[in-house]
Amino acid sequence: MAKILVNSSGPLHGEVAISGAKNSVLPLLAATLLTEETCVIEDTPDLVDVAVMKKMLTNYGAQIDDSEQGIIKVSVPEIVSCEGDAELVQEMRASVFTMGPLLARAGKVIMPMPGGCTIGKRPIDLHLKGFRALGADVVEDLENERVIVTAGENGLNGDVIYLDFPSVGATENILMAATLANGTTIIENAAKEPEIIDLANLLNKMGARIKYAGTDMIRIEGVDRLTGCIHAVIPDRIETGTFMLAAAITRGDILVKNALPGHVRPIIAKLKECNVGVDVTPEGIYVDARDRELIATDIKTLPYPGFPTDIQSPFMAFLTTVKGRSIVRETVFENRFMHVVELNRMGADISTENREAIVPGGKKLKGAKVRATDLRAGAAMVLAGLVATGTTEVSEIHHIERGYEHFVNKFKGLGADIMKIEHD
Ligand code: UD1
Repeated sequence: MAKILVNSSGPLHGEVAISGAKNSVLPLLAATLLTEETCVIEDTPDLVDVAVMKKMLTNYGAQIDDSEQGIIKVSVPEIVSCEGDAELVQEMRASVFTMGPLLARAGKVIMPMPGGCTIGKRPIDLHLKGFRALGADVVEDLENERVIVTAGENGLNGDVIYLDFPSVGATENILMAATLANGTTIIENAAKEPEIIDLANLLNKMGARIKYAGTDMIRIEGVDRLTGCIHAVIPDRIETGTFMLAAAITRGDILVKNALPGHVRPIIAKLKECNVGVDVTPEGIYVDARDRELIATDIKTLPYPGFPTDIQSPFMAFLTTVKGRSIVRETVFENRFMHVVELNRMGADISTENREAIVPGGKKLKGAKVRATDLRAGAAMVLAGLVATGTTEVSEIHHIERGYEHFVNKFKGLGADIMKIEHD
């Protein structure tokens, strides 16, 4: 099995360019199912999850041209199947994003229960609640571990849908389904993540009539058909945060280019609270942690615009090295502390109780054999490895490759002593 080896690297220094956002490109690709015309998606990152989504779309009837780096052209002249492939769905939870567009265009979708990172139960009840509200018949076929959703004879009908939690995936799925529904749909308590706005922008370019995306009440007037368009993916705010933390944890300085500062405000604020220097410049976000007395701080994850749950584990890795006790509170997912065991193997001495982790801080981490327990936890282990004595061996790195483009090379470019090995 492939592994990443990280050696103690000293302060990282240099520039890094952020790639297109994983969490945007996946729903954007799914949205191309809504039209028979060609959609051109630009600034696409080269990720395993993107490859999985391309395979899914192909199974549904998509013709894909990805000959040019960073550009994916998708045409779906006809939906040839509306059944998700169980293996692909197990590999990637974001496969469920194809439910809304398939339901809207083909009137039916059969989806095996989703897989993905093992962070909590991650049900899809809110997605299904939305489809039901739009008039679809939803059958949960528990025996065969799949869901069958069917629209009425006249398609979907707009309605007011209140989400019990501002779920990103449910908001995106309902948004896509509602674009072709009869009448008006309103999503109340909608997610406000930048990826939702990116998706709404793409859909509006395709001819959808969506207003107020980015607020907690999105309004969608259904249209009869959508067309092709050209759209560029927004930069990845979680990759941005990861490299900001690479500067902080190694007490180095990094210019993070092609990043949108407005999307990482809580990360900037929390790093500043820790006395890390963060400057937003025309060239990018400059993070400088050299020769500074750093201060511990508490973090609490929340839906956007709160502190992102996807940066919780990388930030925790950083806090283990800062003198003073910090409390990390996870409120979005119920089981997102699996990296604590791995950080403790390196000497972090973190304790957890329910959704709180207490980080004593000020630890000199030591290299160890650790696992990437999920995508972002994998990044956290690499960050910890950069400052640990000796060598840190990170296994199960397929998680990292799902969501970070050119991960090892970007770190090497900043002076990290890091390499990927294919076999033991
Ligand atoms: C997306 C992101 C993921 C990020 C998460 C929260 C993608 C591909 N992934 O995941 O990186 O960590 O947002 O910012 O965009 N929930 C339910 N019922 C549902 C749906 C969700 O109870 O039907 C719960 C989940 O179990 C979780 C919480 O809501 O506790 C947040 O989930 P959600 O916002 O839906 O996350 P994802 O869309 O899966």
